[in-house]
Amino acid sequence: MKYHVPVLLNESIKGLSIKPEGTYVDLTFGGGGHSKLILEKLNSKGKLFSFDTDTDAIKNNPISQDNFELINSNFKFFDLYLKNKGIYEVDGILADLGMSSYQIDNSERGFSYKGDYMLDMRMNSEIDLSAEDILNDYDQKDLQNILFNYGDIKNSRFIAENIVYFRSSKRIKKNSDLIEILNKIFDKKVSFKFLSKLYQAIRIEVNDEINSLKEMLKKTINHLKNKGRLVIISYHSIEDRLVKNFINKSNFLPDYEKDLYGKKVEFFKRVNKKPLTPTFEEVKENPRSRSAKLRIGEKI
Ligand SMILES: C[S@@+](CC[C@H](N)C(=O)[O-])C[C@H]1O[C@@H](n2cnc3c(N)ncnc32)[C@H](O)[C@@H]1O
Repeated sequence: MKYHVPVLLNESIKGLSIKPEGTYVDLTFGGGGHSKLILEKLNSKGKLFSFDTDTDAIKNNPISQDNFELINSNFKFFDLYLKNKGIYEVDGILADLGMSSYQIDNSERGFSYKGDYMLDMRMNSEIDLSAEDILNDYDQKDLQNILFNYGDIKNSRFIAENIVYFRSSKRIKKNSDLIEILNKIFDKKVSFKFLSKLYQAIRIEVNDEINSLKEMLKKTINHLKNKGRLVIISYHSIEDRLVKNFINKSNFLPDYEKDLYGKKVEFFKRVNKKPLTPTFEEVKENPRSRSAKLRIGEKI
């Protein structure tokens, strides 16, 4: 089985506008598809540092060459690892957010609602908090907020209330426990569409994905060279909104911040007016690419 099929591969590597002797960072190594193509464009003076928080991605690494290093860390710490190597600024940074196919298909990791496995969902298996902990230990209001903010679930209060009610008689451990509760709540078989929203919301909370993304994006400002490229692929609207505002307006709000003199605080210019999305052919070949959006910023 293939570890992962890279999404928007040529478009994202073109977006990095690679200089053969430059230094680049791939923040989400996964199966290494994007890293491989970056390395093909570098000469022996060029360097690539890749990161992944998941030890399975590190163990699976198919690349071995002198100008490449793979680091097992959350990407929000990328600057510390580079500093340790005496590197302060790089020519390009790529992040292909979310989960790899390996993580989704490996049912024991608990990311998928298919099959009956423990509700885990940790990308880094060393962190303590799992999906099971959230579903059983978070209070009703916190559950409601997660479902609403990260899953865009409209009746989040009602769902949270019911999860809290049902878990008092039986701990929610596996997919089947959760689905049993949802079937009772709706009085019919819960839809896959709802399950994917619910699982997305819980996964984002387990992995603290929004805070990691924000921290990482803020750090790119100080660690990209002038004209360095920031290339981000996102898969859902919560991530994309942050990436869009960051690249277009240099902060996480829909408008620029102003300095003391009323001047716009601007760090990036966007390279494409609209995000790039996969072609019809790519989606047909790889349906998991369907929600991808690629945004490219250039440091100014
Ligand atoms: C969509 S996959 C990347 C696929 C990769 N571009 C390829 O072509 O194979 C996302 C990867 O990023 C990793 N990841 C997600 N969030 C991360 C974070 N905050 N820090 C480091 N790695 C992260 C996941 O473990 C996963 O392996």
